[in-house]
Amino acid sequence: MSNVRVLTGITTSGTPHLGNYVGAIRPSVAASRAPGAESFYFLADYHALIKIDEPARIQRSTLEIAASWLACGLDPERVTFYRQSDVPEIPELTWLLTCVCGKGLLNRAHAYKAAVDKNNAAGQEPDNDVTAGLFMYPVLMAADILMFNAHRVPVGRDQVQHIEMARDMAASFNHRYGEHFVLPEAQIEEAVATLPGLDGRKMSKSYDNTIPLFAPREQLRKLIAGIKTDSRAPGEPKDTEGSALFQIYQAFANPPETAALRQAYAEGIAWADAKQMLFERIDQEIAPMREAYQSLIDNPARVEELLLAGAAKARRIATPFTSKLRHAVGLRDLRSQSSQKKAKTAKAALPSFKQYREQDGLFYFKFVDAQGQLLLQSAGYASPKEAGAAIKALQQDDAALATLPAAADLAATQAALQQLRAAQD
Ligand code: TRP
Repeated sequence: MSNVRVLTGITTSGTPHLGNYVGAIRPSVAASRAPGAESFYFLADYHALIKIDEPARIQRSTLEIAASWLACGLDPERVTFYRQSDVPEIPELTWLLTCVCGKGLLNRAHAYKAAVDKNNAAGQEPDNDVTAGLFMYPVLMAADILMFNAHRVPVGRDQVQHIEMARDMAASFNHRYGEHFVLPEAQIEEAVATLPGLDGRKMSKSYDNTIPLFAPREQLRKLIAGIKTDSRAPGEPKDTEGSALFQIYQAFANPPETAALRQAYAEGIAWADAKQMLFERIDQEIAPMREAYQSLIDNPARVEELLLAGAAKARRIATPFTSKLRHAVGLRDLRSQSSQKKAKTAKAALPSFKQYREQDGLFYFKFVDAQGQLLLQSAGYASPKEAGAAIKALQQDDAALATLPAAADLAATQAALQQLRAAQD
């Protein structure tokens, strides 16, 4: 058995924040170091085009995300780390999958349905402002995954449906063209709770409540000071339940440290002091990587070079696999004629007799056409010899038809017998 192949993509549409770090970057980097894992991480910049029409922002985000993953310890020698748009085989596979993907499947995708619901609620045309890119998003994502035959795809809960759709497309393709694709499975990190943001809701760019992963130290301090707390005064016991500050602390601290903060909450720690503790704890983990990040940001040529090397590595798999897939669907070199020979054999298939014995102990035969369609069904004979004699008579001429139960389609039966006799001559 080969390694378990793990793959995940990061859309290049923003600046990495602490939620991305805790939920994706940190666990992925750790997993990529485990023995037996073969990891693929990529910058989903084609996906970014669906949401963003500011070219400079896509470019900047690509640099920031690549630099973040590298600064957090992703080893491009160990894993395959690349940019989606450097692998032209991915959009090519997107088309092959588009042609086996039911349109109805895409109609049911959450992201598309949400857009339609919003339009309906606003009294607009259902597809108002919906691009075909948004509609096709799950197919592009399936191509990302299936291209490398990933077994496991670590994603957030919101992406699980997309993995199921990728399985669907893989199964449809395999059914038509043979077993080419592994059916991928979503892997949801149960252990990593989603990190709350400054306002207590899930940390997310769309809520504008994020703390950038590599905010300079002083900015980090300021942002943490802005985390929403309740109005309890110093000395009053505080609730850990529902405290964003506590939850963020927990994501960085070890169990004894977490227990100590819980104790401090019970003893009425001032919010300002709790924020100071959180700031120091985060900075302790991030500071060493901040320097590496900054030096990569200052040297985009280095990042570009690493990504291009990653793409070359990815294409060592993608290029030959795509050739195989092209062949499978019939996008073939015209000099290879194997398929035509096969077609001829298929055409040469003849109607035939099939003899068998039933539960009643009698012997029967049926006459089927070249496609296996039933033309004629005999009654029971006492011995195989008698059944054989009846077949023989039919092979000679149509007269024997009178001794058999009537055929549903006499003309077709006679034509098939004729064809069989001609082939025997
Ligand atoms: N759609 C994913 C997200 O927004 C990003 C992504 C693109 C992805 N292609 C992928 C994730 C393939 C996993 C596998 O989070």
